[in-house]
Amino acid sequence: MEIKTIGVIGAGTMGSGIAQVAAEAGFNVIMRDLEEQFVQRGLTAVEKNLARAVEKGRKSQSEADAVRGRISGTTRLEDLSEADFIIEAIIENMALKKELYEKLDAICKEETVLASNTSGLSITEMASATKRPQKVVGMHFFNPVPVMKLVEVIKGFDTAAETFDLTMELARQMGKEPIAVNEAPLFAVNRILVPMINEAAFVLMEGVATAEDIDRGMMLGANHPIGPLALGDLVGLDVLLAVMETIYHETGDSKYRPCPLIRKLVRAGHFGRKTGRGFYSYT
Ligand code: 3HC
Repeated sequence: MEIKTIGVIGAGTMGSGIAQVAAEAGFNVIMRDLEEQFVQRGLTAVEKNLARAVEKGRKSQSEADAVRGRISGTTRLEDLSEADFIIEAIIENMALKKELYEKLDAICKEETVLASNTSGLSITEMASATKRPQKVVGMHFFNPVPVMKLVEVIKGFDTAAETFDLTMELARQMGKEPIAVNEAPLFAVNRILVPMINEAAFVLMEGVATAEDIDRGMMLGANHPIGPLALGDLVGLDVLLAVMETIYHETGDSKYRPCPLIRKLVRAGHFGRKTGRGFYSYT
């Protein structure tokens, strides 16, 4: 199956990054969000990244214009009917995702693959809301999408080998390096990474070390590019909490309990970089 048009649902940090790399790879992209202001914010993020690439000499102005020209924004879900491949990047809420997958199943062409960028929710459960579970797959990008090379491709219970292979190939065409993962809570990478960030929050909460020293420690002692607390702020503490809750509930294992400090920060509306405050303040 030839993919020409990719539908991206959700124009947030992940959705806009995915739209950008898809357009850079030559695909036409239709990016959809619920409100015009969200669509515009996503398009502005792409434009900023492209302007920076031109400034840095990585792209010519005409290349950047061509990439931008391949992305259209919409609030109408029906506009995705012409997409050959859908990448969903909406909030981590299974009820909302299932409602969306049911609608997409009715709107999209029969051969269209529905891929989720979920951080760790069940692909099988999303697929159960459709009549095409063999065409539902996980395609998990990492933040910031234009920079990070990895895509986890996740096989749900009924995902067909053909769907899986197509998604691996699409990830390569988008300039990424895919790894193959069988469905399990949080897949492979977040299963390791997110509990580490959660543990760093415990270390902070217990007063074992300051935020700066925890982060410096992991950068200097384990060669991480940024420390775990800074990474939590980058990913978003709301996302992080939702991801920890998923693995905690799915496994019932107390080792995955979310750190109360993260819960408190989220309740206070301090989600990290995107709200200007998380473990650190960003002014
Ligand atoms: N979009 C596009 N480009 C970006 C970017 C963004 N949001 N953020 C940074 N970059 C680019 C910069 O433009 C810069 O490129 P340039 O040198 O050509 O100008 C380059 O990345 C390096 O950026 P900086 O010099 O500003 O900062 P750093 O050297 O600290 O690099 C980083 C930034 C690449 C984000 C680095 O800190 C890093 O690798 N951090 C770890 C990221 C990580 O672990 N991500 C995974 C999160 S988990 C996840 O996403 C899964 C989810 O399900 C929870």
